[in-house]
Amino acid sequence: MAIRNIRQYGDELLRKKSRKVDKIDKRILTLIEDMKETMYSANGVGLAAPQVGILKRVVVIDVGEGPIAFINPEILETKGRYVDSEGCLSIPGKDGMVERPEYVKAKTLNEKGEEIIVEGTQLMARAMCHEFDHLDGVLFIDKLIESGEE
Ligand code: NI
Repeated sequence: MAIRNIRQYGDELLRKKSRKVDKIDKRILTLIEDMKETMYSANGVGLAAPQVGILKRVVVIDVGEGPIAFINPEILETKGRYVDSEGCLSIPGKDGMVERPEYVKAKTLNEKGEEIIVEGTQLMARAMCHEFDHLDGVLFIDKLIESGEE
């Protein structure tokens, strides 16, 4: 395993759309292991492949319940909305309020290539939306809510 460099805001690659993974081979599994290690070393709760320079639809998330890898994830259903503070490992030192669903249900392939359903609420739902957005070149700063108070 290896820690990879995290692309920083301003890097054009962060704005590109990632491609679907068509084969879960050793390269993809190594990428996932490296992404987990990179996420933990940066004290993040999620990381998307474009953040380490790979335009593939791969995400890792750990909100404190163990790591989950998502390959070609798709959101099936959302419920509720709530606003909370958010940040991004590619935009260090910046955070802001973003509205996200309270509940998210997604389908994804796991590392074995099995299609699984992952449900998340609160922080997990937020992390899923944030990281999946990265796969389409969308950053949380695109979705900031004007606070109106400081
Ligand atoms: Ni991010």
